[in-house]
Amino acid sequence: MQIVVMRQGSDLLFCKIESSEVKIDNSFSLYVGPERGMARFSSTLVCNIRVKTGEGNYESGDRIRRNRGKEDQMSVKVTWYSHACVLIETEGTHLLIDPFISGNPLAPVKPDEIPADYILVSHGHGDHVGDTVDIAKRTGATVIANFEIHNWLLNQGVENGHPQHIGGGFDYPWGRVKLTIAQHGSALPDGSYGGNPCGFLFYVQGKKIYHACDTGLFYDMKLIGEEGIDLAILPIGDNFTMGPEDGLRAVKLIEPKKVLPIHYDTFDMIKQDPAAWKDRVEQETLTQVTVLEPGEYVEL
Ligand code: NI
Ligand code: MN
Repeated sequence: MQIVVMRQGSDLLFCKIESSEVKIDNSFSLYVGPERGMARFSSTLVCNIRVKTGEGNYESGDRIRRNRGKEDQMSVKVTWYSHACVLIETEGTHLLIDPFISGNPLAPVKPDEIPADYILVSHGHGDHVGDTVDIAKRTGATVIANFEIHNWLLNQGVENGHPQHIGGGFDYPWGRVKLTIAQHGSALPDGSYGGNPCGFLFYVQGKKIYHACDTGLFYDMKLIGEEGIDLAILPIGDNFTMGPEDGLRAVKLIEPKKVLPIHYDTFDMIKQDPAAWKDRVEQETLTQVTVLEPGEYVEL
């Protein structure tokens, strides 16, 4: 049996023995929990293990305190797959947002190449639900979405889901995510009701990442900004979402350290000039703009 080891910020291990063996090198720590004594290595796999490290063998109930040096501190990696599709990697956990890959002319990857432990779906539109069902079935990822979309995805054969709703946050093994409002629509591809659209506010490794998803400008972005945002991921494509002008106003309301513009150039209707937007935002605000090519990433 092969087990993929997931990283976690805690320096404590609680392990339970059965028959498998996992080698942990110095670059890894294990996440075990939330049930003490049970190791969880992905959203779907809960297994009992024996842990072997350079320091010895550890068995069920052992507590291992690791010294986390500076080199142990991982960054959060945010990869943009074009449109609103973003992959956040935090300590070995892959959080995939709005995986619109098939039918996306800018997608730099194939749907069967993308890793996912969790998939977050902001609203029901096809360019956001995208390949969620296929990727969830392949990876066993847990899908996080509003209650309505969550139920719809389970009806499509997705096995693992966690419903949330706007204003609500939840503490996952990798960190927390809260659903924010978004001004948009949310009908699902088959016409089903998709509830209200949302954005996502992630709290991972002490960093705060706000993915606005599809939205028009709204003044409550100021409230989101009051949390102290390290990276805001904002649509600038216009037509279906905020355009460059309102994207700039959004930056002024949120005041994030960095901003990543998204949801542009995928289709003719949303062609934009991100370099010009970067110049303008950086002239008028203190926020640093990160313009990525599809497939490129930024580290926090
Ligand atoms: Ni949409
Ligand atoms: Mn969209």
